[in-house]
Amino acid sequence: MFTRLSLKNIKSFDSAEIPLANFTVLLGTNAAGKSNIRDTFRFLHGLSRGYKLIEVFAGKYEGGDQIWQGVRGGPYEFITKEEPFGVIGVEFSETKSIYVLRVESMDSKPPRINAEVLSMEGNILYQIQDAAPTFTNIGIMAEGNLEDEQIVTVLPDEAVLPQLADTQPYEGREDQNINLVKSGVRITTDHLRNMRFLDLSPDAMRESSYPGQNTLGDRGENLSTVLQDLVENRGKGDAIIEWLRALTPMDVAGLRFDRDSRGRVSLTLMEHNKRATSAESASDGTLRFLAYLALAFSVDTPTTCFIEEIDNGIHPSRLQLLVELMETQSKQGKLQVIATSHSPALLNLLSPESLGNAVLVYRTEGSCYSKVKPLKDIPNFSEIAERRHPGTLMESGWFENTLEALEYVEEGAK
Ligand SMILES: Nc1ncnc2c1ncn2[C@@H]1O[C@H](COP(=O)(O)OP(=O)(O)O)[C@@H](O)[C@H]1O
Ligand SMILES: [Mg+2]
Repeated sequence: MFTRLSLKNIKSFDSAEIPLANFTVLLGTNAAGKSNIRDTFRFLHGLSRGYKLIEVFAGKYEGGDQIWQGVRGGPYEFITKEEPFGVIGVEFSETKSIYVLRVESMDSKPPRINAEVLSMEGNILYQIQDAAPTFTNIGIMAEGNLEDEQIVTVLPDEAVLPQLADTQPYEGREDQNINLVKSGVRITTDHLRNMRFLDLSPDAMRESSYPGQNTLGDRGENLSTVLQDLVENRGKGDAIIEWLRALTPMDVAGLRFDRDSRGRVSLTLMEHNKRATSAESASDGTLRFLAYLALAFSVDTPTTCFIEEIDNGIHPSRLQLLVELMETQSKQGKLQVIATSHSPALLNLLSPESLGNAVLVYRTEGSCYSKVKPLKDIPNFSEIAERRHPGTLMESGWFENTLEALEYVEEGAK
């Protein structure tokens, strides 16, 4: 799982360290910078897929079809305005590895990565600095020992990480150091590649899909066949129904999957009294919840999922279930959830642990930069949260005001 994201001169962040738990809620007013965090993760995800830097920013086409939508804002709004380059660092728990990139992007020139480092437990696995505009040699080393350096050649217009993962330019060199590099590169690349960015659309979830399409799309595509696979092949039917029954006033007894004349499968919710509700007339909230269930039960490799406005379309009285689902599933270690929310009700329902792990994204008066603060780092927060509902504190702007006041006091002390 990701344990930290560090940003320097990226979008609205001049300098920020964002600690990430298995379930992290990002809070903050409009334009605070929450989606800029998502954009940064999408940037890393796009690079890990082996796309050229310009494609990551501007979109990737294959045979005329767009298979990747570029990062919001494109290359020239990715770095903080007026700065020549930005730095992104991401830490992983599995391998205690840290992946750092320095990205240069100015209006007149194509963007480029001019430094990249991967380290594991404090040992640098490879690094590249001040990359030349053509082919570049990188040093691969272990135990921080430059004498162990091995030179390999990589392309300059995409990140080194996926190139090392996919082309194995060091093939044939079998020794302990190379094996360490290989495993660090593999795990880091896989985790970035497995990232998901759910942005559910009820229309997409209502569509029928073909059997065998068992990957949930980011808009919720293939929901019916993902659920069919979970129910018919993976023994998850009872668990899914149990969650659904708690969610809706309908007395859901099962899910039915019908094939149309083209062989596409549509989803129907069955009630005990034999009444049936097709996905087409199911409520948006039910479909959203079903998609979260489908995701939670279908991931089988560690996956980090970024969910924008997770409470969207879910009735306040059913938010408890959503929180429960996210908390129980993320505890099992397969699914890490980073979610943005504007809902005070959701905040009130978080367990003390998730509440402490929630991160406020904010800007103070007079500063154009975004800042972040995990709620547990606000002085005396746990005592305050016992006396006042955190949602009320959020609605009243208490978090932002308190942090602004603290900053004022800190400045005065300096
Ligand atoms: N390159 C940049 N330099 C400085 N600020 C930026 C840059 N790119 C975006 N921003 C700021 O980020 C804001 C959008 O933040 P966003 O993450 O979308 O907010 P939200 O918290 O609502 O999701 C914009 O209003 C803009 O002020
Ligand atoms: Mg946003």
